[in-house]
Parts: sequence; structure tokens; C-alpha cells
Amino acid sequence: MKKIGIALIGYNLMGRVHSRAYQDVKMLFSPPILPVRKVICGRSKQLVQDAQEKLEWQNFETNWEDAIKREDIDIVDICTPVYLHKDIALKAAELGKHIICEKPMAMNSIEAIQMLKVAEKNKVKHMVMFNYRKVPAISLAYQLIQEGRIGKIYHFRAHYLQDWLIDPSFPIYWRLKQNQAGSGVSGDLGSHIIDLARFLVGEIKEVVGAEEIFINERELIDDQGSRTGSMGKVDVEEATLFLSRFENGALGTFEVSRMANGRKNYEFLEINGSNGSIVFNFERMNELQFFSKEDPSHIQGFKNILVTEKHHPYMKNWWHAGLVIGYEEPFVHNINDFLISIDKNTNPEPNFLDGLRTHQVLDAIKKSVQERCWITVDK
Ligand SMILES: NC(=O)c1ccc[n+]([C@@H]2O[C@H](COP(=O)([O-])OP(=O)(O)OC[C@H]3O[C@@H](n4cnc5c(N)ncnc54)[C@H](O)[C@@H]3O)[C@@H](O)[C@H]2O)c1
Repeated sequence: MKKIGIALIGYNLMGRVHSRAYQDVKMLFSPPILPVRKVICGRSKQLVQDAQEKLEWQNFETNWEDAIKREDIDIVDICTPVYLHKDIALKAAELGKHIICEKPMAMNSIEAIQMLKVAEKNKVKHMVMFNYRKVPAISLAYQLIQEGRIGKIYHFRAHYLQDWLIDPSFPIYWRLKQNQAGSGVSGDLGSHIIDLARFLVGEIKEVVGAEEIFINERELIDDQGSRTGSMGKVDVEEATLFLSRFENGALGTFEVSRMANGRKNYEFLEINGSNGSIVFNFERMNELQFFSKEDPSHIQGFKNILVTEKHHPYMKNWWHAGLVIGYEEPFVHNINDFLISIDKNTNPEPNFLDGLRTHQVLDAIKKSVQERCWITVDK
């Protein structure tokens, strides 16, 4: 069996999710190449050593360049704050290593173009971890749309709402700094629903947006994460709303917020077409609601499909019908697809071009907010 060595950069939230995904993909998906958890990297020796033991990696490093240049590494998996994505990806590509990069792919589309070009030049495989595409219910929505079951699409409607910034005493850490995160909630949560919009409906032609920072000052923390008692200015948006027109004529409505009290990870989509509609809510991620005008009129209404059958996308490798899956499983699907693409020498999806297209939409939203008008998305 062919084996492939992984270097994971970042061991916290996404580092833990990806670590488990490498384990699950081996146990449940029979990928053509076996991923081997070779080296995990973080800045603090003690913390990364703890992570190495707990997440079962063979080695650890405290410098990402040392981790990725090792001869036994074939895939570099980037789970760091956004401002580091570009440098790690460029170096990895130049060393001929395949790349999995967390979203948002980069700080902006200029960086994303550079990453795509260097990855293509060095002929390495590249993926952006837009995990929600690989939720079986969303893959099924894609299949229903491709089969023409909802007809011509008129509306795409999406919210992605969280509430972790509601508390004014929540301090400024990397996600609340423009120079480390690139943007606020638009790049963080918005990138996911922009990717889903492109995946399910098609390319976005133009946008008009509004954004807000409701709490302008928060407490600063030091390099060790301890509170300093001094206040700093928040320079990334807490909420963004935008409208879009798609190239195929559909209209889009999007809302993302970190200030939606009571909402934890509320990702909701509704798509209305000439022949039917589709509704998805991540809090019920194993279900897809489908309305078809082709049903006899006396029984028309939304039906709830439990997407756990063997014939549903990605489900044949999981459990029996009705045994639901959870948050981390779509990451397993992406990693399995990535390993297949390396083995078959095909282009994985979602890839750096998808990451770039998302940034082009994000850049257009930013410009629209500044200029208070509709902006055409650059391609
Ligand atoms: N796909 C998703 O749904 C999803 C969800 C959450 C986060 N993310 C993305 O994942 C990435 C990481 O987010 P997170 O929530 O895991 O962040 P986090 O703050 O929990 O972890 C960041 C990790 O990066 C490491 N790190 C920071 N600087 C480093 C350096 N110079 N060298 C090596 N390691 C360094 C830290 O030690 C830490 O382990 C971000 O791009 C974020 O947007 C994606």
C-alpha cells in the first residue's frame, strides 16, 4: 500500500479536526494512498509536544519551515491563522509538496492568485478546506440541482450566524485583527456560504453590501494570550450583509454575523427554482428539505430527506441508514477526495481556484461597502 507523509501546521481547533480526519479516512474510506501523520507543528514546544502525543503524530517541530522541508513529507496541511497561509503554501509548492489549506485561503485575492500560480507552476495538488460542500445533504442538493429537479434557479438565500462576540469583554485575538485574519466575519463565515453559492448555483456577477462593527473597542491580550487590561480598536467587521446577482440570472441574499445572540453555528440555505426548492440547516445536517412542483398537488409540500442511506453521497463508508454523522465527517470526505486526486492525478475540488473566486467576491463586497454601490466581481 502506498503511503504519504503529512505535515500539519497548527494544532488547535482545525489542527485537531484534521488530525482526526486522517485517522477516520484510513479506518473507514480505504483511500488509495495511506496518510501517515508524520509531523505536527506549533510555536510552543510544550504545547505542540502535548498535541503530538494526544493527536498521535510521529514527530513535532516548532518552526513550520523545518516541518515542511522534511524529506518524508508529501502533503502540507495549513491550519494556522490566515496571515500565514500564503508563505507556507508558497514554500510548500516550491518544495513540490501537495497542499491542503484552511479557509479563507488567503488575506485577499492578490495573495490567492499568487498561491494558485505557484501551485500550478510546481504541479502540486491543492485544496481549500471548504468542508460544507462535502456534507452529504449538500452534496445531495448539488445532485438534485444537476438533475434539474428544482428547475431554473431564481433565489439563493443564506445566513451563517454565530454569537461569540456578543460579550463586550471578549478580547481581541487574531481573528479580530485585520493584519492577521485579513477580514472579519465576511472572510471567516462568508467565505463558506460564498463557496456554497458558487458550488450550487454558479458564479457571482455583482454584489452590493453593508457591514458593521458594533463594539469598537475590546481588551487586548499579550503573546501568551493573557489579558493586558488595555483596550484596542477592533478593525474587522462583526456583521456583513450583501445581495448578489449570479451570472445565470439568479438573485442571492447573504447574511453573516458573530453578533446574532443565541446562534452558535447556524448555517442555513434556501434555494428556490422554477420547479422546486431546497432547504438546508447545518444544525440538522443529516437532513435535506425538498419541495417539488411535480408531486401530485394534493400531497405537495416540503419533504424531509434523511440523508443517511448507502446511495447518498459519501454515506456508503459510514454506518447503517439512520445512524447520523457529525461536524468532522465532511473533513474526512475532503481528505479522501484529495488522496484520490493525488493517486489518479486529477484536480481535487474545492481547490485554489475556488479559493481565489471566493476572495474575488469578498474583495468586491469590501469595495461595495466603501463605495456604497453595486460592484462587478473581478475574474
Ligand atoms: N473549515 C472550517 O470550518 C474552519 C473552522 C474554523 C477555523 N478554520 C480556519 O482554520 C484556520 C485556523 O483556525 P483555528 O480556529 O484552528 O485557529 P486556532 O487559533 O485555534 O489555531 C491556530 C493554530 O496555528 C498555530 N500557529 C500560529 N502561528 C504559527 C506559526 N507561526 N507557526 C506554526 N503554527 C502557528 C497555533 O499554534 C495554533 O495551533 C484559519 O484559517 C481558520 O479560518 C476553518
